[in-house]
This record gives sequence, structure tokens and C-alpha cells, in this order.
Amino acid sequence: MPSVKEQIAAKANEIENIIFRYLPEGDGYNDTVVKAMEYTLSAGGKRLRPMLMDETFRMFGGEDRTIIEPFMAAIEMIHTYSLIHDDLPALDNDELRRGKPTAHIVFGEDMAILAGDALLNYAFEVAASSFREDEAVYRQAQAMKILTAKPGIFGMIGGQVKDVESSGTSIELETLMYIHKNKTAALIEASMMIGAILAGAQKNECRIIEEIAYKVGMAFQIQDDILDITSTDQVLGKPTGSDEKNEKMTYVSWKGLEQSREDVRFFTEDALALFDSLGYHAPFLRSLLLALASRES
Ligand code: IPE
Ligand code: IPE
Ligand code: MG
Ligand code: MG
Ligand code: MG
Repeated sequence: MPSVKEQIAAKANEIENIIFRYLPEGDGYNDTVVKAMEYTLSAGGKRLRPMLMDETFRMFGGEDRTIIEPFMAAIEMIHTYSLIHDDLPALDNDELRRGKPTAHIVFGEDMAILAGDALLNYAFEVAASSFREDEAVYRQAQAMKILTAKPGIFGMIGGQVKDVESSGTSIELETLMYIHKNKTAALIEASMMIGAILAGAQKNECRIIEEIAYKVGMAFQIQDDILDITSTDQVLGKPTGSDEKNEKMTYVSWKGLEQSREDVRFFTEDALALFDSLGYHAPFLRSLLLALASRES
């Protein structure tokens, strides 16, 4: 029996193959931007969001791969666009991502901005390509609504706005919680909710899934803040010390390392208690949520 870590790695591999199938091909004029999109998308990464989406889909009995796979590719494209833009000189100004020089270092700022825009837009083209003329369309429309809203101004972009505005200033814990909820938890919420909706989960189940994903997302960003201090560039594949360089108040500046570690455990335990209350049998997804609390990269 492979370990949870090995199972996660094998799953990430499978997902990578799915994502690559949805990569666009250039038309001869737009090849540079297509190359830049592909560069960061294929540089690696944990593929956590599509993994959560797929496992939630399976938990609720979802079987049709042609419905879920375009959405899996789409959420990873949106996430990757957020990373390319997050690293730009105007935002976090970082030069390493997924173990490689960031897109703006390789392709220039102009092309990195456009590649981010292109990944966001293409994500919606890919997700919409799964629409068919049958009853599943209503679910897909709901999934699309979440795919468009959670990355937006009342989600990921909203969190990023507050995050960059708070650079060099002192912020309340409440503001920090807003930043974490939106810049990070929003896409994790989208991932799990879309998996649930496309599989036909009940409304109240989707609400609980959103709550679970919120807690997982909070734990995920707190751990990201911890690793920014305690890890190495090599292990993370991105520069440590980025938050200090940008004078960002993080969860760790508020609570200290020990309490932050404890809070990662609290959020994770809360998420798992809610997960268990749903009463489904999904041992791999459960182990994945638990493994995130002790992730090192
Ligand atoms: C990094 O996300 C950005 C955050 C929200 C903390 P991940 O840690 O999931 O990055 P990849 O996809 O594995 O590169
Ligand atoms: C960014 O948070 C979250 C995004 C929306 C990309 P961070 O700025 O802490 O993410 P990393 O540490 O660069 O991956
Ligand atoms: Mg940032
Ligand atoms: Mg950053
Ligand atoms: Mg970070």
C-alpha cells in the first residue's frame, strides 16, 4: 500500500496530464504568450486545487470525467495566473516560482501580465467547453458562477488588493483574516464547491463543503506564512523571506510561530470534524486535508 505522500504525488502526476491536454496551441502570431502560459503552468506545483475538486467530485459520486476535467484544468489555470501576477515587480517582486525563474524574468513584464490575463480568460473558455445539451447544464452553470466569482473582487482579487495595500503598514487581525480568506481560501472553496456541485451534492452539503474549504484555506495560508520564515528557497521552490522583504504583516507577525502552528492544527481539526459530519467515505480526501497541515512545501 503506497503512503499518503506517494498517493498524493501519483495523483498530482495524473492531474498534470489532464491539465496539459487543455493547453492551447499558438496560431503563429500569439505564440509568445502561449509559451509563457505553458511555462509556469508546466513548471510544477502541488496541483492541490484540481486534486481537491476531483476528490470532492468523487466523494459525492461524480463519475463523468468529461464534466469534471475541464473545470480541473480551469481552476489550475486561474491559480497559475494568480501566481504569475503575484510575483510581478509591482506586487511581491519575486524571481523564483515552482523552482524556476518567474515568468516576468523569462518573458518580460509585458508578456507575464498578458500570460496571466490569458490564463484567466482561457480558464473560462476551457470550463465552458464542457457544456452539453442535457440536464447537467444547470449544474455546470452553477459551477461556472463559482468559477467566475471566487477569483474576483469579492474573492481572490479582493484579498490581493488588501494584501498589497497593507504592505509597509500595520493591520488589524481582522483585516489579515479578510486577506487570508480571500486571497487564498476563496480558490480552495471554489475547487471543492465545484467538485460537489458537478457531482450533484445537495445545497446544504455544498454549504458545508464551502465551510470546510474555508478552514482548509486558512490553515493553508497560515502554513504558507510559516514556511516563508522557516523553510528554504530550494524546498519551497519560491523565495523565502518574501513577506519580510515586502514588509507584510502575516499571521506569524500577529501570533508568533508557535501559536500559528497550533492554529494550523485548529483550523484543520475543525475542517475534519465538519468533513466527518457529512458522513461520506472518502479516505484519500480526508488524508489529503490532514496532510496539508504538516506540509513542508
Ligand atoms: C501558493 O499556492 C499561493 C498561495 C495561495 C499560498 P500553492 O502553495 O498551492 O502553490 P503551487 O501550486 O504548489 O505552486
Ligand atoms: C498569494 O499569497 C496568494 C495568491 C493569490 C497568489 P503569497 O504572496 O503569500 O503567495 P506566495 O507565497 O507568493 O506563493
Ligand atoms: Mg502575495
Ligand atoms: Mg507572493
Ligand atoms: Mg507566501
